[in-house]
Amino acid sequence: MKNPNNFNGLKVTSFESRRANEIEKLILYHGGVPRVAPSMREIPLSESKEAIKFAKELIAGNIDMVILMTGVGTRALIKAVSTKFEIKDIKNAIKKTTIVARGPKPVAALRELKLKPKITVPEPNTWRDILSTLTSEATLKGKKVAVQEYGISNTEFISALKKKGAKVTSVPIYKWALPEDIEPLKAAIRGISDSKEDIALFTSSQQIYHLFEVAKKIGSVKKLKHGLKSTVIGSIGPTTSETLYRFGINPDYEPDSPKMGNLIREVARIGAELVNKKRTALKNGVDTNQWQPQDMIWSKSSQKSRKEITHNSVFMKACRLEKTDYTPVWLMRQAGRYMREYRELRANVSFLELCKIPELAAEVTLRAVDRLNVDAAIIFADILLIVEPLGVGLEFSKGEGPRIKRPVRSGKAVDRIKDFNPESLNYVYEALKITRRALDPTKALIGFAGAPFTVASYMIEGGGSKNYENTKGLMYKDPDAWHVMMEKLSLATASYLNNQIQAGADVIQLFDSWVGSLSRDDYKEFVQPHMKELISNIKPGTPVIHFGTGTGALLDLIKESGSQVIGLDWRVDLAKAWKHIGYDKAVMGNLDPVILFSTPSEIRKRTKKILDKGKSRPGFIFNLGHGILPKTPVDNVLALIDYIHEYTQK
Ligand code: CP3
Repeated sequence: MKNPNNFNGLKVTSFESRRANEIEKLILYHGGVPRVAPSMREIPLSESKEAIKFAKELIAGNIDMVILMTGVGTRALIKAVSTKFEIKDIKNAIKKTTIVARGPKPVAALRELKLKPKITVPEPNTWRDILSTLTSEATLKGKKVAVQEYGISNTEFISALKKKGAKVTSVPIYKWALPEDIEPLKAAIRGISDSKEDIALFTSSQQIYHLFEVAKKIGSVKKLKHGLKSTVIGSIGPTTSETLYRFGINPDYEPDSPKMGNLIREVARIGAELVNKKRTALKNGVDTNQWQPQDMIWSKSSQKSRKEITHNSVFMKACRLEKTDYTPVWLMRQAGRYMREYRELRANVSFLELCKIPELAAEVTLRAVDRLNVDAAIIFADILLIVEPLGVGLEFSKGEGPRIKRPVRSGKAVDRIKDFNPESLNYVYEALKITRRALDPTKALIGFAGAPFTVASYMIEGGGSKNYENTKGLMYKDPDAWHVMMEKLSLATASYLNNQIQAGADVIQLFDSWVGSLSRDDYKEFVQPHMKELISNIKPGTPVIHFGTGTGALLDLIKESGSQVIGLDWRVDLAKAWKHIGYDKAVMGNLDPVILFSTPSEIRKRTKKILDKGKSRPGFIFNLGHGILPKTPVDNVLALIDYIHEYTQK
């Protein structure tokens, strides 16, 4: 029985100190075997010389800007200076400076004194965020800046401020020391070094410094680093991850919101899978201290056995109407803006660049699978990439979606469509190759293309459309030109897809997203012949999923087009639609993507209804009724996938 959010007996080391008991309980609660090795001790400086010096300068009017890094530190600073000065004088003096708060915690501490910061740095507030906010909102040149510091000094931040011309004084308030008893820490280092621990969780940067400090003391830095190669590393958030990178170690998992509970729950969910992946990669000679998902190499065994494993995967079986142990699931647009991993990669490149750099496209594809634990990957690309080599011009402008530069609005324009050269999309095949190599063999890789009608609609309208006036206009007014265009697209698409299969796609999905806008008669006359031809030209043995929205009235005609699996949107009842199509076809669907904006319990309720309609028959794949929306909360998506696996497990 699959048990989501469960470590299932994995050994989990934590370096948390203040909340050591709490984290131990959480690990136990999630089925892990905890080892808690407290790594730090807080020493409050009740008589802080630096704080007093700071207060003197402040009252004398010698400070222009005060940067408050932490809530605890801000409160401690005020406590320390109020032993020697009137709080009223401090308040009056600090009001005259530019007060900078790093995030909500120092803001809350200031509020207790009825003070407001002039500048608040948005989350995630790493020192680089602070610096970029400061340089965009204030000048630093020649300014006297005091930085409240908590724990160890952030020398990188201080020197970056100095580089910008600021005169910086650091005001350290709290110091971290090693715990009095460092035996547990030593034992943890030995455990990791001997590869006896499965997972290591870091909940602050300081823990990493102290871990390495002690490792250095006992001469084990090398061994520790080596041991970390086979240990899955969880990091609470971006600042902690930054410190790990500084030590040459890539974290394997970081939750979206930096909370201890989230870290434990999410690592528990995919921990076993990550441990397996990381150790397999290590055995295959990958440097897992610095690896990326695409560095994964699954096994030395021959390609044939990889193909066999994938062939017998739950997903492929469902496509072939064979019985499976549970209902497989993936989500249309599963790699997209709703996911932090996607936004991070997308931050530095345009959408088209992301598609065209195979390593990045593979990375996006694989990160989505790692995060969600879905049963199939879909290659990161777009249905409109194919129109670029057809010569109509393609653009993705910010916030407006795709735009075709030279819309095809006449028979002449149809004739000008270029012959398709499949090599023009080599970058897609390359991304498929990288992805297939790194993807777990038990997961299927989906290649895809837009179906001719939907792609034609973009080429003719020039972008998205509501009523398809121009598309249907060409169809009715110049049916010959229409058929020539559809013929060109169907041939190009078949060639494109066969190249994807050659590169490693196990399944093909055809997105006919907007075909539901047609009447039955029009579908039969203007679309179906081309779909039949296209599907019959796809290499036999590779299942085809045929998806569209608003297709409730077309399902029997879509079936005749010849795919093995039919995708359903949320408007139809899955049980009725399947009966109507016939049980000789597999079906995929069909939760309304908007339900993911509700609560986990509501999501489970609605999902159960769909699962009860589909799960007892072979040939059912769970999906949303259309692509996942950009603002969907990730936690709800994780809850959905766990629920499907858990509820349908036989
Ligand atoms: O499913 C996946 O994770 C794979 C990637 C994928 C994308 N687009 C990435 C993408 C897939 C399968 C598609 C298919 C696609 N593209 C369809 C058919 C599916 C559907 O939703 O009906 C259509 C109609 C398109 C065309 C398209 N691409 C539009 C209308 C837009 C703009 C709307 C939007 O969501 O931004 C795109 C851009 C696009 N394609 C993005 C992604 C991740 C967003 C780009 C960004 O980062 O800004």
